[in-house]
Amino acid sequence: MNAQPAISGRTRLAAVIGSPVQHSLSPALHNAAFTALGLDWVYVALPVSEGRADTALDAMRLFGIGGMSVTMPHKEQVAASVDQLDPAAAALRSVNTVVPSPDGDLVGHSTDGAGFVASLAAAGVEVAGTQVCLLGAGGAARAIADALGRAGAAEVVVVNRTASSAETTAALASAAGCAARVGVAADIADAHIVVNATSVGMGGNLLPCDPTLLHSGQVVADIVYHPRRTALLEAAAAVGARTVDGLGMLVHQAALQQRDRKSTRLNSSHITISYAVFCLKKK
Ligand code: ATR
Repeated sequence: MNAQPAISGRTRLAAVIGSPVQHSLSPALHNAAFTALGLDWVYVALPVSEGRADTALDAMRLFGIGGMSVTMPHKEQVAASVDQLDPAAAALRSVNTVVPSPDGDLVGHSTDGAGFVASLAAAGVEVAGTQVCLLGAGGAARAIADALGRAGAAEVVVVNRTASSAETTAALASAAGCAARVGVAADIADAHIVVNATSVGMGGNLLPCDPTLLHSGQVVADIVYHPRRTALLEAAAAVGARTVDGLGMLVHQAALQQRDRKSTRLNSSHITISYAVFCLKKK
């Protein structure tokens, strides 16, 4: 593994903006990737208060920041303000990555959903042709619904506490190209892949669904990564289902942010490198 070069006058800057942002794992992830690749880049967290996203985009242009991650509460405002949007960001009206194009336009991307699908692929799970039961209908669930549609899922069934947001989420999967509907808890048993995209289970041992609906023919994925082994994944493993934890989505959405930074030589093979480096550091 290469050592990270010392910061010099040529060092390129990447950053995450958000509020709060001090606890973001993104600096650890992206700097691990830069170090692994021997790139003369540094990634920092910049607190930007609500309503100041446009000023941050002006600063990005002024300072020539080479890539900017965007987190709460700025994702929608940045989507409204950048010069171009990729198809996922346009569908979601939400941006988690801004990359300058060669002619200086700021291009907004959304890598969360594709990062989730990439984490399944890395675990050997193919989405195309499968029925997916998606638990949740918040920002993360919407990104995943859109990505499942683009990845060729046969059907996405959205189960959520609040029905109105389940409908919006199912509509995103449908607009992205697959059959989709709002479902009920019993639909969990019929799914090939069950995805927990609610926040239930974060930092505790609560379950987002009745575990007796899970069975050995399924893949059960959780986007919660703290704890890494959630109560849902424990229950799924106990009945013999395959499990995919939430760390993969975190790492792959970050790796895709680097892939989108076309001014570097990063490519898809580097996803594996940054993933490996990050996992080693997490141990
Ligand atoms: P994020 O942007 O991280 O996805 P979010 O937009 O707040 O977070 O969405 C949280 C999701 O978890 C929602 O689907 C929410 O359900 P509602 O749409 O009904 O609010 C779900 N969620 C959170 N707490 C829950 C709970 N105790 N029981 C069931 N669902 C819950």
